[in-house]
Amino acid sequence: MYKDVSIVAGPSSVDLASGISKHLGAELVPVDLRVFADGESKMKVRRVKDHCVIVQSTYPPTDRHLLQALMLIKRCSEDSAKVYAVMPYMAYSRQDRAFLKGEAVSMDAVAKLIEAVGTNTLITVDIHSPASLSYFTINAQNISAVGLLARYAKVKFKTNVPIVVSPDKGGIQRVMEFANEFGTDMIALTKRRNKDTGEVTIEERELNCNMVDRDLILLDDTISTGGSIIEACRFLRKYKPNKIYAMCTHAVLIGDTKRRVKAAGVEEIISTNSIPGNSAKVDLAGLISGQIKNVIESKSLWSKC
Ligand code: R5P
Repeated sequence: MYKDVSIVAGPSSVDLASGISKHLGAELVPVDLRVFADGESKMKVRRVKDHCVIVQSTYPPTDRHLLQALMLIKRCSEDSAKVYAVMPYMAYSRQDRAFLKGEAVSMDAVAKLIEAVGTNTLITVDIHSPASLSYFTINAQNISAVGLLARYAKVKFKTNVPIVVSPDKGGIQRVMEFANEFGTDMIALTKRRNKDTGEVTIEERELNCNMVDRDLILLDDTISTGGSIIEACRFLRKYKPNKIYAMCTHAVLIGDTKRRVKAAGVEEIISTNSIPGNSAKVDLAGLISGQIKNVIESKSLWSKC
């Protein structure tokens, strides 16, 4: 039981915060939110304890959720000596460097803001690029939900063991970890993204893998516009697989992405609850709680002076 810990339920992650508070036996602190006509948020939080965990995932509306997180951290740092920001989906982590000359490195700016408002420790899940963490000088930790996703899949796909596919080479470690946990085969496609338009293509090369009548799981960190999954699906169809599923940690699913992904031939999208929604079948509460325990118990290493 963590009696000296408050879990603040940020407006974007109320259910996840509640799950974390149950796992830790810590008090759940609601946020009184009012959004004004001009879009500004105003939030009120009662007094919090010495260790305060703010749970706020920064999925769309991204900037609103990010600002709410910053305001909550600032507010809680008035009461707490130790403020832990849990941001399972880390907005802007795909902008971790200047891809074209003159581009702002958004993740650098976001990291500076998170620190400036009084965060002692940041915990995020399957951040797009670990390089993003290098912009923090505080204790910033990334935890992997791949094991949880693989264990969920193991139960769901008992009879027709699927092949796990990464839409890009950058996801090779992820599919290897998933395939090891599951005990199945993996492949990685080669994806290219046009740096100006964002358009995705999959390199047309022959794969030495028999997929006939096998189920496939396309595994990615994030499904946002669905471009990567849709193109991967189109490419894989040539190999006459049985069903194609998509699994990811963060189901951002902008606009009608879910419909388009399904129209492309994906049977089902399965994700964690870093972003609430119908596809959020895998609960992160236990995983995140475990990490919070680790951080609290090793707190002396990371105390802010
Ligand atoms: C990028 O490389 C990531 O791993 C994902 O593949 C990407 O963020 C997915 O975005 P979208 O669904 O818009 O293609």
